[in-house]
Amino acid sequence: MFETLKAQPADKILALVQAYREDPRDTKIDLGVGVYKDASGNTPVMRAVKAAEQRIWENQDTKVYTGLAGDPTYTNAMAALVLGDAVPRGAIAAAATPGGTGAVRQAFELVRMANPEARVFVSDPTWPNHLSILSYLGMEVVNYRYFDSATGGVNFDGMIEDLKTAKKGDVVLLHGCCHNPTGANLNSAEWDAVIEVLQSTGAVPMIDIAYQGFGDGLEADAAATRKVAASVPECLIAASCSKNFGIYRERTGILMLVAAEAAQGLNQATLAFLNRQNYSFPPDHGARIVSTILTDDELKADWMAELEDVRNAMLGLREQLAGELQKLSGSDRFGFLAQHRGMFSRLGTTPDKVDALREKHGIYMVGDSRMNIAGLNQNSVPILARAIIDVGI
Ligand code: LMR
Repeated sequence: MFETLKAQPADKILALVQAYREDPRDTKIDLGVGVYKDASGNTPVMRAVKAAEQRIWENQDTKVYTGLAGDPTYTNAMAALVLGDAVPRGAIAAAATPGGTGAVRQAFELVRMANPEARVFVSDPTWPNHLSILSYLGMEVVNYRYFDSATGGVNFDGMIEDLKTAKKGDVVLLHGCCHNPTGANLNSAEWDAVIEVLQSTGAVPMIDIAYQGFGDGLEADAAATRKVAASVPECLIAASCSKNFGIYRERTGILMLVAAEAAQGLNQATLAFLNRQNYSFPPDHGARIVSTILTDDELKADWMAELEDVRNAMLGLREQLAGELQKLSGSDRFGFLAQHRGMFSRLGTTPDKVDALREKHGIYMVGDSRMNIAGLNQNSVPILARAIIDVGI
């Protein structure tokens, strides 16, 4: 039977990880997969995470199942972290998921369950795995214009024009902050305009927020998500703890459905049902780390301080890279790199130039010219800048 299986398309981001590992050059630079690296190229366990793990190890006296939707201490703490007091807690159905990807997958399944005809509007470009999961689930995708490669910013007029074609029963997938893969984000007035379109079309927003705290700060990065959730009757939110807690391999995420309080019971039961169908109970260790940190003032303050250091380090690298490129190119055409926020920036060049960077200079970035800024350090920024100019970008 299994001889009928066909090779599946390789994941472009994960394929790079392997290619980088196999490259023998010791001057190689990895700007591929979205993992934070410090100035020495390590991805450390955050201090508060280590402390929380120690407490869990010392105090945990059972490994018995949690709830199907995860431990309520975790879902409550995450609802507060992402949504603040933008909506009443009683309006939120929430379930722990294996990572942000698990939340995205469960959200799409929920949409398909509620409306098999739903179209999902996605930014052009979006995280490739959004498209891969949607295609796997057989769901219809509509692209909306997003990135303007001429300016490195958002093609806002194009985006609004395209979003206006969404209808009630459709879903609009938005990146809450730190757009992946481009790094280009909406400003507050532009978010207001998107909300107006959502209100007038009746399409349901789905917000993927995987980098809260990596852009302008924990609160600022959640502002758009909160405003959207408070302004429309229904909203889906998929959040990840992989990056901001640095617990990638623990697979810690959450899916939230914000809707009428009267519907919360049914919505909560449906999220639990979906968990049961796909993996039964969600993983607990990462969720317990997160809830231990978020419910303890001291650990939370230390986590926030370290996250802020990470964020500022990335901003410093952005400034440095934009500055180096300005010197070398004698123009401001790379200024957008300092404006972008989050882990990624799309350089806006062609696949052959991306290939040249890899082949000639050992610099690995995704084929659409997405760079992981956190893969750089102060010493590698000038090397990257020279290579960018050398290959004629
Ligand atoms: C990325 O975009 O690099 C990360 O979200 C990691 C992944 O799973 O693709």
